[in-house]
Amino acid sequence: MHVLVTGGLGYIGSHSTIELLQAGHSVLIVDNLSNSKIDTLDHINSITSKKLMVGSVLGNLLSFIQADIRDRLTLDKIFLENDFDLVMHFAGLKAVSESVEKPLKYYDNNVNSSIVLFNAMEYAGVKSIIFSSSATVYGATNKVPIDESFPLLATNPYGRTKIIIEDILRDLHYADSKWSVIILRYFNPVGAHISGLIGDNPKGIPNNLMPYISMVAAGELEKLTVFGCDYSTPDGSGIRDYIHVVDLAKGHVSALNYLLKEGGSILLSVNLGTGNGFSVLKMISAFELASDQTIPFQIVDRRKGDVAESYTDPSYAKELLGWQAELNLSDMCRDSWRYKVNNSE
Ligand code: NAD
Ligand code: WQD
Repeated sequence: MHVLVTGGLGYIGSHSTIELLQAGHSVLIVDNLSNSKIDTLDHINSITSKKLMVGSVLGNLLSFIQADIRDRLTLDKIFLENDFDLVMHFAGLKAVSESVEKPLKYYDNNVNSSIVLFNAMEYAGVKSIIFSSSATVYGATNKVPIDESFPLLATNPYGRTKIIIEDILRDLHYADSKWSVIILRYFNPVGAHISGLIGDNPKGIPNNLMPYISMVAAGELEKLTVFGCDYSTPDGSGIRDYIHVVDLAKGHVSALNYLLKEGGSILLSVNLGTGNGFSVLKMISAFELASDQTIPFQIVDRRKGDVAESYTDPSYAKELLGWQAELNLSDMCRDSWRYKVNNSE
């Protein structure tokens, strides 16, 4: 398959590109580098080149174009020059708090860009897409485990952009059954590639737990603040379904295989998580073990908008895509730490 990967130099897109290449597909990445670095392209090449050379199926298996997907002219040119079978759409902004402060930026960069992309796909006759959605679409539900039948209810602009894009994709499919759509709703992606070459490298002070813990372990931040220890969970801290980014990336290949195998007209929404929930305090102790560092922390008030518990029921992904997460919490912490050590300035 020849796959257009939007946002392919970002955290999840780069790991997914590696899995796609290793499964024998060819990839063209379009990324505007707004939240990624060009070095990632070299890292993807060096991780995959050995494996690709063994089969000597060389050729342009991986290519890259720096562009914004809101640029319709460039997209049309890219579609004209390539015979894509499928689009994997990762490009987007993802910071919840920024989306509350700058909603227009999020509606433009996430929703508007998706509309431009889908128009270009329709014009080119490429109507198969795998889209990066998020467990955030389930809003503030406290019911667990979360399955795909739960109602969608966003609690912030970022989450609303995901629901709007999902709705657009559903409407496209209803209007024209040639549109095959798989919506993947990720839980909490963490970890990094085993090579230590690529991983999550947010700019500035991270919002998410794992990159924050990594920075504290590396001595770059003084201590972690734990948002609330008065939840009705066994140790009082919030519980989430952390999933290794490599497992998540493999989930995309499974979704692509499903499209290949089933053919025809598809409209699916699938949760990708492990089905296991870990508390913040458990994450701290697991990271201490993996890094052999002490992680100082201070318990503060709950963070607004947080829920006590969130984890998926992973059975639909397993039944439908034949996919389940394989890496455990210690793999997640070990790989995050290796990436941190390799990439500290
Ligand atoms: P990321 O920021 O690392 O990657 C996104 C990539 O898209 C970046 O390389 C960025 O430069 C690029 N990009 C952004 N806007 C663009 C545009 N208009 N045109 C071209 N390129 C553009 O984020 P990620 O963690 O890899 O997330 C990928 C997708 O998965 C996003 O859609 C995100 O909302 C979704 N998601 C992420 C998480 C998470 O916790 N990381 C969880 C659920 C869903
Ligand atoms: C995890 C747990 C915090 C930081 C977010 C987005 C979601 C998705 C994934 C994109 C919670 C606690 C955190 C800290 C802490 N992204 N925490 N101290 O909130 O589950 O999900 O990222 O789609 O949309 O909302 O992830 O990593 O921020 O928090 O105690 O400094 O860690 O309270 O219990 P979250 P997170």
